[in-house]
Parts: sequence; structure tokens; C-alpha cells
Amino acid sequence: MTRGTILVTGAAGYLGSHTVLALWESGFEVVGIDDYSNSERSVVSRIEALGQRALTMIEGNVRDADCLAATFGRFNIVGAVHFAARKSIEESFAESLSYYDVNVAGTLTVLQQCQRAGVNAFVFSSSATVYDATQPSPVDENSRLLGASPYGRSKLIGERMLRDAAQASGLRYAILRYFNPVGAHPSGSIGENPRGKPGNLMPVVCRVAASRQSQLSVFGNDYSTMDGTGVRDFVHVQDVAEAHVHALEALLQDRETLCLNIGTGSGTSVLTLIDAFERANGVRVPHVIAPRRHGDVAAMVANVGEAARSIGWRATRNLDAMCRDAWRFAQTLGC
Ligand SMILES: NC(=O)c1ccc[n+]([C@@H]2O[C@H](COP(=O)([O-])OP(=O)(O)OC[C@H]3O[C@@H](n4cnc5c(N)ncnc54)[C@H](O)[C@@H]3O)[C@@H](O)[C@H]2O)c1
Repeated sequence: MTRGTILVTGAAGYLGSHTVLALWESGFEVVGIDDYSNSERSVVSRIEALGQRALTMIEGNVRDADCLAATFGRFNIVGAVHFAARKSIEESFAESLSYYDVNVAGTLTVLQQCQRAGVNAFVFSSSATVYDATQPSPVDENSRLLGASPYGRSKLIGERMLRDAAQASGLRYAILRYFNPVGAHPSGSIGENPRGKPGNLMPVVCRVAASRQSQLSVFGNDYSTMDGTGVRDFVHVQDVAEAHVHALEALLQDRETLCLNIGTGSGTSVLTLIDAFERANGVRVPHVIAPRRHGDVAAMVANVGEAARSIGWRATRNLDAMCRDAWRFAQTLGC
């Protein structure tokens, strides 16, 4: 028996595609919406092959209120997971208005249409970039917020809108602050495949391993960390996908508001990640040390206790699985 239909915005994207499968596995139906601005249409058939069923996809923009209203009118939607957004910190400095347009106006439009349709379970993709990264790790959900980039600020505004909307209406929401999602589905069929220059580390590691890029620049080796390179909290994309199912289940039962870090709670340095990738996959990742990048911090690791306590979610996949699955997907892509 179905547990209800969930609207997934950005369903053809990296996190969206894995979450569609996790929702199906848990007995939910899915209606996806995507404008394919940062994904390929072929992802849909790959999701369908993995799930062995058809995926209802609407090609549309989350800022298009009419398209959303028609979607809510056509399907009996009980909850929404809102991934669709632009996501590069670096790009957001040069294209800030576009980031506010897609990330803020897009979230506002989805929220308004959810409210009109009486859909009041809403999971929002936020990010560790909302935190003041200069404070010591691990950071918990009450740590200082800053949003040091237009991207980070667009996520903070999204969070703020949710809190305000919840006070004014019966909206139930989960804010999930992802740390560093990496890896891919173990089949190698879906994974992270951004258009243009990748903003995240793992796709670059894969390109270098595949000799599509000559070397990886490691930005800074003089931080006060175990080996001097930056430390981040890498978390397998399938664990991240499963967190959405747990959050939705909690909202559809009795939880009204959730704000959760989604990470493993353990830090991995850039050099450790490279080493793990080389060992797990038997490949070389040539790298050079480059100067620190403006705005980077020594360490950013999550305290993940609240997610375990409130929705019973914990990451279960290790760094080797993250590296193996990312590489398998890169090879499938022919990268
Ligand atoms: N991947 C990460 O490292 C990471 C970390 C923290 C937060 N997040 C957040 O998670 C969410 C998903 O990230 P992702 O890595 O899957 O990104 P992604 O770019 O792979 O997926 C986003 C999807 O949304 C679609 N999209 C973008 N703008 C749209 C619009 N206006 N209308 C309809 N569809 C649109 C894109 O085509 C893409 O398929 C984003 O909100 C991102 O900010 C991601």
C-alpha cells in the first residue's frame, strides 16, 4: 500500500535522484519536477531502471506558480522535498541575483503553492554553509549562523521563511543542513554530474583519476589540522537520501519542526580523502599544494546527535564506500 505521494523538486539532480529511489523503497509514490538546468534528462530513465518502475516527471521551473499549481491539482500530494536550487558558493558571488531568484524566489513559490494545496510537510535542502565556519567543530544546530556567501545567505533566508510560515500556518518542516555529500548509487548509474566546472571536491578527484584533468589542487596545507589540509565531513549520498525519508516520516506522523545536521560526525582531511580514493580504487590522483582559498576554513564537521535522537537517522556508509561508488559512477559516465 502506498504511503502517499511526495513532490520532489530537483528530482533529476544529484541528491534528488537518490532520494526518489529511497522514497520508493520506503513505499512512497513520487512526482518529480526539474527544469534540467543542472542535470540530464537521461537521469530519469536511469532512476526508472534502478527502481524498475516509471517516474512521473514534470519538466518545469520551481518559480513557475502555474506549473506547480497544476501539479498539485493533478496529484494527491502529501509532502514536498525541495532540492531545486543553484549550489555553487563560488559562482554565487558572481551571479548573486540569480542565486536569490532560484533559491529564494523558488523556495517561496514552492511554499506558497504547498500552502494553497494544503500540503504541510516540507523538507528543505539547507547546507553547512549557513554556519559561521570560523567557530570550532563539531557544530551543532544551535551553533552561530552566518551565511558567508550569497549562496549561504539564500539558504538562511529559505530557513527563515519556513520558520515564519510555520508560525502563521500549520506547516511542518524539516531543515536538513547537509555537510559534504559524496559517492553515488552502488550501481554506478546515478551520481554527481554537474554541468560545467564542478564546485565540489569529489567530482574533481574523479576527473583527475580518469586523466581528464592533469592534477588536483589542494588549497592550503598549513591549517591546524592532522596533516595541514582542510577537514570536512563527507557523507555518502545514499545516507543523505535516507535522511529525507526519516524526516518526512517524522513530519507525517507527529513532528512539527526539525532542524538537523546531516553528516557523519567525523572529519576527513583532503589528503586523507585522496589517499582513501587511491587505495579503494587502485588509481592515482596526482595533486599539488596550492595557496589557501579565500573563505576556506580549517575544519567543518557536524555534530549529528540531534538527527539520531529526533528521527533515528545515522550515516552508515564509510569513506571507502564513498570513494568506490563515486569512481564507479565516474567510470560509467566515461569520465
Ligand atoms: N551536493 C551538495 O554538496 C550540497 C551540499 C549542501 C546543500 N545542497 C543543496 O541540496 C540541494 C540539491 O543539491 P544537488 O547536489 O542535488 O544539486 P543538483 O544541481 O545536482 O540538483 C538540483 C536539481 O534542481 C534542478 N533545478 C535547478 N534550478 C531549478 C529550477 N529553478 N526549477 C526546477 N529545477 C531546478 C537542476 O536541474 C538539478 O537537477 C540544493 O538545494 C543544494 O543547495 C547540496
